[in-house]
Amino acid sequence: MYTKSFWNQFVPAREFPGLAGSTEADVAVIGGGITGITTAMLLAKRGLHVVLLESMRVGGGTTSHSTGNLYSTVDKNLKQLYNKYDAEIVKKVVSSRAAAMNQIESNVHGYQVDCDYKRVPWYLYAGISENNSMIDDEYNHAMKSDVAAGWATSADIPTGFTKGVVVPAQAQFNPVKYVTGLAGAAESDNLQIYENTVVLKVDEEKDRVILETTGGLVTARYAVHATHTPKGVKVYHTVLGPYREYGIACRAGERYFPEGIFWGYYEDGRKYSIRHYDNNGERYVLVIGEPHKVGQSDDNIRAVKNLEAFASTHLGLNDVAYRWGGQHYRPADLLPYIGRESKTSNVFVATGFSTDGLVYGTLAAMIIADEITNAPNEWSEMYSAHRFTPVKSAAQFLKENINVAGEFLKVLPGMKDTSDFVNVKPGTGAIVEKDNTKIAAYRNDTGQLTLVSAVCPHMKCIVNWNNAEQTWDCPCHGSRFKTDGTVLEGPAFHALHRITVEGEDVKKEGH
Ligand code: FES
Repeated sequence: MYTKSFWNQFVPAREFPGLAGSTEADVAVIGGGITGITTAMLLAKRGLHVVLLESMRVGGGTTSHSTGNLYSTVDKNLKQLYNKYDAEIVKKVVSSRAAAMNQIESNVHGYQVDCDYKRVPWYLYAGISENNSMIDDEYNHAMKSDVAAGWATSADIPTGFTKGVVVPAQAQFNPVKYVTGLAGAAESDNLQIYENTVVLKVDEEKDRVILETTGGLVTARYAVHATHTPKGVKVYHTVLGPYREYGIACRAGERYFPEGIFWGYYEDGRKYSIRHYDNNGERYVLVIGEPHKVGQSDDNIRAVKNLEAFASTHLGLNDVAYRWGGQHYRPADLLPYIGRESKTSNVFVATGFSTDGLVYGTLAAMIIADEITNAPNEWSEMYSAHRFTPVKSAAQFLKENINVAGEFLKVLPGMKDTSDFVNVKPGTGAIVEKDNTKIAAYRNDTGQLTLVSAVCPHMKCIVNWNNAEQTWDCPCHGSRFKTDGTVLEGPAFHALHRITVEGEDVKKEGH
């Protein structure tokens, strides 16, 4: 496999059991990443009985593909928030994120989670002078937002530098050690955690929610979609853009590397996030960048190669030990959607975190725990999951949905890579059209073909081949599937159908 997440090596060997039989709870949490585990922990501490359902391993999904960086500002820059909101809202965004960081710090200390947590400075800088004005802008907006920003110097920064801003006392940790450590510490009579348990359906009735899973039914008063994007067909998918970016971890030997979170702007305004992490006496430098819409790159390997070229040119690092992809969902009005699906619903969502998910995931847990237990929360309205902001969302809404509409057209006959399986080379995948059926065909290195339907079970877009991660990725709302059709992430509940071909006849099997 070409990609393997740096953080996945920290997923512990000990597994939580799978659900075996039906059960009841006050709250069912879907997803065992930072959002789900924190939500479950907070609610169990308040005396509610919580069941958490993770389709794979706790901490092994999006959390293990993140950066481990924690900061109170935002990836899209404060300036962009000011294009849509006034200073009062932007200050609340920053202060809510700072509160979530404090919650993480208190969990680390309270539960004694061994996750290499430390406070470090955060830097936003121009690697080349063409980007200096962006830095001036961000400094000015940080001042307006009560962010304790100062000016950085070239001595602080590990690459070329022309101008930069620093915010002290932000933080870093190992995201997998944090989430798995928190899960282990928080598991109790009030909190049962199940791994390898896939949720197939969520039905909300008058005063209960019923979840159909691969291990049995779960009946709860409340359900929380802590799955990065909610499962099923939801209105949110029209206001969220699914994006993927890549990360690499390079061996850095004995080389000195300053402490901090480094976000630098380089040629063509490209932004890269850089940090280091020491593991067992070995120093690694992590570089993240090259964002693009899920399922819409014709060569994902090229994106990884671009990162490698950046690390070589700007950091002098050439020994790449890990490569991986990570997903994020950009909300049209720049704020996440957190809380009840509607005013009266007992189903909660937490989505649209952009690339700021470790802090927003924790904040979502705090807000949802307060809403379920009827405790006041000063940020709940601002991030409300049923807010509607037509003016603030309009431009981005149109852009994302015109893009999605274009992808839906690929379902039409003739839109394919090839009509003959012999053209699918070993180690690659392609969309083959046979008998008016679009087939996602993957041939492994020994020549064996695996065939699944190319039609995404979420809303019927046609999936595309991701050559870096060897997955089928849906370009519409970001569902991703293994070559055998199993769901990896995204809103799809069900796998891609298995396909068999006999002569010219194409047969579709169950999930
Ligand atoms: Fe929505 Fe595939 S994720 S159609």
